Amino acid sequence: MSLTIPSKDYAKRRRELMAQMAPNSIAVIAAAHEIIRNRDTHFAFRQDSDFYYLSGFAEPDAVLVLIPGREQGEVIFFCRDRDPTRELWDGRRAGPEGMVKQYGADDAFPVDDIDDILPGLMEGRERVYYSLGRNPAFDNLLMGWLNTIRSKARTGAQPPEEFVDLDHLLHDMRLIKSTAELAVMKRAGEISVAAHKRAMRACKPGMMEYQLESEIIHECSQQGARFQAYPAIVGGGENGCILHYIENNAELKSGDLVLIDAGCELQNYASDITRTFPVNGVFSNEQAALYNVVLAAQEAAFAEISPERDWNASHVAAVRVLCQGLLDLGLLRGDLDEILEQNKYTEFYMHRTGHWLGLDVHDVGDYKIGGEWRVLEPGMVLTVEPGLYIAPDNLNVEQKWRGIGIRIEDDVVVTKDGYELLTPGMPRSVEEIERWMAN
Ligand code: GLY
Ligand code: MN
Ligand code: MN
Repeated sequence: MSLTIPSKDYAKRRRELMAQMAPNSIAVIAAAHEIIRNRDTHFAFRQDSDFYYLSGFAEPDAVLVLIPGREQGEVIFFCRDRDPTRELWDGRRAGPEGMVKQYGADDAFPVDDIDDILPGLMEGRERVYYSLGRNPAFDNLLMGWLNTIRSKARTGAQPPEEFVDLDHLLHDMRLIKSTAELAVMKRAGEISVAAHKRAMRACKPGMMEYQLESEIIHECSQQGARFQAYPAIVGGGENGCILHYIENNAELKSGDLVLIDAGCELQNYASDITRTFPVNGVFSNEQAALYNVVLAAQEAAFAEISPERDWNASHVAAVRVLCQGLLDLGLLRGDLDEILEQNKYTEFYMHRTGHWLGLDVHDVGDYKIGGEWRVLEPGMVLTVEPGLYIAPDNLNVEQKWRGIGIRIEDDVVVTKDGYELLTPGMPRSVEEIERWMAN
């Protein structure tokens, strides 16, 4: 099944952004640049998410310029020119003509001509919307164009007066997902679920962590998602306590848990799932006890996800359940409210319970507005990912707990009366996992 965001959606996003821009202003959005991996070989190209959100265009070194109200055209692209030799070696290019025909440009020019054209487009506009500081090389180019205009001031050229951060407007738009975006994200979730189920079933003592990683990558690629949204984390035993462990080169041992945090990227949209399960298919008593605490914390967090609840409510709910569980198991001592007030749990739980999810795995959008936690709205997509990590060298807890790291992570979209799981169908409980692995 192939899903695509229709080109009219990109046009709608550009119109929506332009409608929020001040009169007589211009927005400049740069595409990503290819990055060398070794000598003359590049990392797989990944488009800048802001640029992609407004264009759907996946080539490097392009620039989108939006000028609301400009009579000769509001949407202007600069892109690599057609070049038969380069295209023979490196792949097809849309070229300026393609930008007009396929990508909704009113006007398009070869990017090699940008120094001659862009200053003229900026001249006389009062405001420039731009994400300053994210791409230093492009920041320099922009300052150069500004100086070009300034150098002509005596001939009457008027340089822009104000630079305004584009992120604020654009990232608020990106935070609320459209129906088409949600369809892609649901599919990304389905593919990642299939990948995790495959890895769970393939797992055997004596395998290497990278072999489980390869099961994940294989399933995602087979289903059309060639890239992971982030490097897969496959941590056996105490490696599960390293939050962003990506070495993935240790042997998986019977009696240990393995934590897999992996999600595919589909049409640049991320999914993000974590499951933790026993390498030999059966949880020990201690592993099951801690697992059940994390699972209960995730349930408590889910229950707080709906419009009217703020972003922080699910974290607060999860932390309370985690701490009560740690108290019940004797890993923490004292009074629950005091533990919560004084953050006495952070040696076991040091991250937040989720983040926005979208074109970026840690997606854009403010978490607070005017100093207050943001209220959830339908269309927001977030992860719910409580965990517990008992450091292998924590001498304050009994030996039997040490080196156990557990996280359970799923993706949800806020709906008008609650939430919908984007990653359904995964074994979740101890029994479901053991049953799935036994087959
Ligand atoms: N995979 C990164 C995270 O869960 O935030
Ligand atoms: Mn994750
Ligand atoms: Mn996550």
